Amino acid sequence: MQFPCVTPHNLDVRQLGINPNHWYVVARSSQVQTKPLGVTLWNHPIVLYRDSGGEVNALEDRCPHRQVKLSHGRVVGEFLECSYHGWQLKSNGACAAVPYLEDNQKLPNCKIRRYAVKEQDGFIWLFPGNIEAENFTSLKPMGVPEWDNLNYIATVAVIDCQAHYSFLIENLMDMYHGHLHQDYQAWTSAVLENLSADANRVDAHYQAQSYYKIDKIWSITQLFFPALRRLHPEPLHVSYIYPHWVSTLGQDFKIYCLFCPVSEKATRAYLVHFTSLNAFWRLHKLPIWFRRFVKNSLFGSAQRLLDGLVRQDVQMIEQEQQAYLENPHRRIYELNRALPSVQQLIRNQAASE
Ligand code: FES
Ligand SMILES: [Fe+2]
Repeated sequence: MQFPCVTPHNLDVRQLGINPNHWYVVARSSQVQTKPLGVTLWNHPIVLYRDSGGEVNALEDRCPHRQVKLSHGRVVGEFLECSYHGWQLKSNGACAAVPYLEDNQKLPNCKIRRYAVKEQDGFIWLFPGNIEAENFTSLKPMGVPEWDNLNYIATVAVIDCQAHYSFLIENLMDMYHGHLHQDYQAWTSAVLENLSADANRVDAHYQAQSYYKIDKIWSITQLFFPALRRLHPEPLHVSYIYPHWVSTLGQDFKIYCLFCPVSEKATRAYLVHFTSLNAFWRLHKLPIWFRRFVKNSLFGSAQRLLDGLVRQDVQMIEQEQQAYLENPHRRIYELNRALPSVQQLIRNQAASE
């Protein structure tokens, strides 16, 4: 795969590519069934499908015969069949069968690209980089360890924004924008207290006022009824662990943002919100089946909140992208010292591919 080649100096961060040598999230597990699914990761169309053995596979979304989309085809046993002339492909991208092959003809020796892909913690993780590289086996998906943990209630929201991924990560690392979400009462009065950065991550520690406290089992109703919320101080940690983001607000909330940069002007991401039940030790003594029932029944309990926050953020991010396109050289005035570190990480990663 050819990714844009960059040098580290003075490059406009809004034009930078991604470092392909990481695991990106391209879909939720539940989206990938036997019907093929087309996704795009940094301008590269990819088809995902689940074969008859339940394994998820990822191929270039391009039939080697006449270049039409394989995601319009279907799965037949372990093969992916193109909708046009019915050629079938193996999971390694080689041709497996051509329905009208004559006795004196050989299968064409064509092969499309296969991607390394893993199904983990409710998501499909894809590695678009060099799988021949020495360190490939040591690079693991970031993962979402709370996904199967019975003490965490999950909610997932999809972010689709017409903007470069740098605008989204800057939004997520800049907790001073609680102002935008006042009507959802998530957090307020953030103060950046500590910032650290290295070649792979930026960690920003804020002190903030949180509206939520999950100390009684019914406190979860605060996710639906803002009137039940009371302000109190909580640490708010946000980390850019390239290419993804993770955040904790006090003991009760953890949020991930799993990135799938689509192009220079489009980004998809999966926001995964967890409410912790760790404080309820009595609950932990109940049978596993019951705890699983509680976890599953409460799945999505923060949906309205999360969708509302996403809507507000996407609107701002898309306005930033538009303003940038109209005048890429206009100066912006940034006061949050976390953001230069975020941009530096993007530059270093884009340059190190
Ligand atoms: S274009 Fe796919 S089989 Fe012909
Ligand atoms: Fe936000």
